[in-house]
Amino acid sequence: MFYKLFFRRILFFLSPEIAHYFSMFFLKTAFYIPGFGLLIKFLYSIENKKLHRNVFGILFKNPVGLAAGFDKNAQFFNELASFGFGFIEIGTVTPVPQKGNVKPRLFRLKKDNALINRMGFNNDGIDAVVKRIKKRYANIVLGGNIGKNKITSNEAASSDYKKCVDKIAPYVDYLVLNVSSPNTPNLIELQNKKDLSCLLVQVQELNKKYNKPLLIKISPDLNFTQIDDIIELVYEFNISGIIATNTSSNRLNLTTSKEHVKKTGAGGLSGQPIYQKSKEIVSYISKKSSGRIPIIAVGGIMNAQDALQMLDSGASLVQIYTGFIYNGPSVIKAINTKLLRR
Ligand code: FNR
Repeated sequence: MFYKLFFRRILFFLSPEIAHYFSMFFLKTAFYIPGFGLLIKFLYSIENKKLHRNVFGILFKNPVGLAAGFDKNAQFFNELASFGFGFIEIGTVTPVPQKGNVKPRLFRLKKDNALINRMGFNNDGIDAVVKRIKKRYANIVLGGNIGKNKITSNEAASSDYKKCVDKIAPYVDYLVLNVSSPNTPNLIELQNKKDLSCLLVQVQELNKKYNKPLLIKISPDLNFTQIDDIIELVYEFNISGIIATNTSSNRLNLTTSKEHVKKTGAGGLSGQPIYQKSKEIVSYISKKSSGRIPIIAVGGIMNAQDALQMLDSGASLVQIYTGFIYNGPSVIKAINTKLLRR
């Protein structure tokens, strides 16, 4: 409530990307005040064994995570952990640092509780990110979401993913292959059966050294035949789970005017408008695999009810991004509280 009445009003005056970094650096600075971290923890965290989840061999203290893209460079996860998340996924990180697309590249569609972004994997590169992860002091499950550089062709993509695995695997709890961002040219084509199996065979061979749970993150724009292919590969290559879903290239279910949407341009849509599609995909994978494939549901979870419905549709864990921007950190506590009341 306080977030929406006060902080969000201020933040929404700023451009979305400036608001993001302003709030995160403000938070980081505030953590230097003695007791601030404890206060945040007291206000937002819930510790209860009933919330524990054991998924792909990892114990999560609750099923609510922060989705990839929020802390791309592993700068804020230690502080963000105090808001009660059960896990945080950093990245997407690529082998070499890259600037991403020109600004502005992040837009709010307020009427739709949505965002459109075409960030384009702006990140500090794997070396800088790993250096920061090594300084991890928060007791939280960390996922490492990895991708390929823009200049790397799809044919050479495996080499980029492997470089990242080699550097990040020792320092994270699970790995995610992001093959579904719409903002790196042709990246989503890596979801086709041939390319994906070529990628998975190589990454899993390397991963024998680290034995980390490896997940793939998929697009909400796949059709069910394409999802069937991915399910087959999950079995074939012993993939630990699917993250469903990334942002969408479609512009369906919007109330924002067509002109405004058109003016915003290309990018991935997130938030409320993609919820139904993401849920459909979660439900499909769960049914098709008879619940054998662990699913992390992400896409349009704006409140506790959305999260619980995703879990009821077959997800083992959920993640949020846009819901965190629109509704603030109390969403995490609300989801966990609702779960405990069940
Ligand atoms: C993202 N997302 C994302 N995903 C990913 O795997 N790697 C990334 O680098 C990013 N970057 C990113 C930036 C921004 C600004 C947004 C809004 C989103 C996608 C994100 O993790 C999530 O899958 C989608 O946003 C859908 O969830 P929400 O936002 O509807 O809760």
